Amino acid sequence: MKFQKKILCIGAGYVGVPSMAMIAAKCPDCRVTVVDINSQRIDAWNSAELPLYEPGLEEIVYKTRGRNLFFAKDIENQIRENDIIFVSVNTPTKMFGTGAGMAADLQYWEKTAREILQYSRSPKIVIEKSTLPVKTALAMERILSSAKGKITFEVLSNPEFMAEGTAIQDLENPDRVLIGSRETKSGLKARAELAGIYARWIPEEKIITSNIWSSELSKLVANAFLAQRVSSINSISALCEKTDANIAEVARAVGMDSRVGSKFLNAGIGFGGSCFKKDILNLVYLCNYYGLPEVANYWESVVKINEYQQERFITNILGSMFNTLAGKKICILGFAFKADTGDTRESPAINITRRLLTEHAEVIISDPKALTNAALDLADEKGAIAYMEDPYRAAAGCHALVILTDWDLYKKLDYKKIYKSMVKPAFLFDGRNILDHNKCFEIGFNVYPIGKPALSHFVKQDC
Ligand code: UDX
Ligand code: UDX
Repeated sequence: MKFQKKILCIGAGYVGVPSMAMIAAKCPDCRVTVVDINSQRIDAWNSAELPLYEPGLEEIVYKTRGRNLFFAKDIENQIRENDIIFVSVNTPTKMFGTGAGMAADLQYWEKTAREILQYSRSPKIVIEKSTLPVKTALAMERILSSAKGKITFEVLSNPEFMAEGTAIQDLENPDRVLIGSRETKSGLKARAELAGIYARWIPEEKIITSNIWSSELSKLVANAFLAQRVSSINSISALCEKTDANIAEVARAVGMDSRVGSKFLNAGIGFGGSCFKKDILNLVYLCNYYGLPEVANYWESVVKINEYQQERFITNILGSMFNTLAGKKICILGFAFKADTGDTRESPAINITRRLLTEHAEVIISDPKALTNAALDLADEKGAIAYMEDPYRAAAGCHALVILTDWDLYKKLDYKKIYKSMVKPAFLFDGRNILDHNKCFEIGFNVYPIGKPALSHFVKQDC
């Protein structure tokens, strides 16, 4: 079959593959190839067991793989063969030198740009899919034009806004698609070409365009705003616990103001995931770089509140359990950074588990999808850790249940049965506020939600 467009994506990760699978599904006349330096990952994408869990992804990959979606290892050839190249390699926080712990580490990006330059034999549109610091495209353009050859490259910014766990529905029906370009004739032409691909399934009014710097910055700012809402509600949850106000009631009342909106107001143990912290720190670094320390400090406080919230949660566990966890068994329900994913990058569960182990607790971790990643994250831990997928087995014989991920399945467990199997007094720390706390209290648990009064049988006796 002769394909209308030949599209490549470099980086077969959480962002690259779902977004390319969606393009392949919606545009059968486009050939979409995904490459990665990690050849085991490519093998896994070509196998019956995909390397990551994302609801709905399997179906769409199985439908398109071998038809117009391909996973390949020959990066050099693929760069040569394709006309449109998405780059979705990771951009972690830099861990060395200037900007360590804050700035984005762009070494993979730059290496990829140099490869594109080295292997290309015809003009290409190069698209930034990864989240990048504003002005990265300038560096890309400089690298790509350094050979002074005849080949022209047009760099576009097309950040991906999908969230894990809902990636497929977000890609199918996004709030918006953003395409940034140079406002030159060739830049506008490349922008129109990419917009044409998305227009195959996305209403035109949702495909917005901008200059390339606005596009790069918008992605960082979108993530910063989302994370800021989580930190805002979490900061108020601390005040609720001091004042007998209830964070769910406050969030509902505030969120019903249409100017505020009701989403992203769930208090909990703080945000995780590969993006929020990294992107805010990157924003903070940029603000400082451009001489805006007040703006930098403002955004940095979003990350600080996130750390504070986790610390509060741990202190609360320790304090409620008579200031000693040594030898106590604690069951952690949920290790993924959010529900419906096996991803544990920056999951609050990592830090919380490590802290419990420091107190010499025995930790039993349960999660329906994230146990493999959890074991990798905690591989260096010397403390007592067990992994059990079945939540009932994991909880049996424990002193406390600690809910760290908002998996739907945890809302539906038989807590009477679990209570019976636990050591008494049994403690329940709901780090995601997903349970019916009164019901759990009636069963016999001492219940500690976030931003709501604790329901403790001890308090009752003291009064
Ligand atoms: C990552 C970043 O976290 C995010 O900010 C960015 O927007 C997109 O890239 P994600 O897809 O979740 O998001 O990362 P990951 O699952 O780690 O995938 C990146 C892939 O790129 C990895 O499979 C890695 O092997 C690959 N890679 C990395 C290359 O193919 N070439 C490189 O030079 C470096
Ligand atoms: C985020 C952005 O939502 C997405 O647009 C961007 O492309 C990538 O980063 P993701 O990290 O996959 O997506 O998940 P998200 O749903 O945003 O959740 C991030 C974290 O915030 C999770 O740990 C989640 O549990 C937490 N969260 C979210 C809360 O604690 N409370 C809320 O109300 C919402």
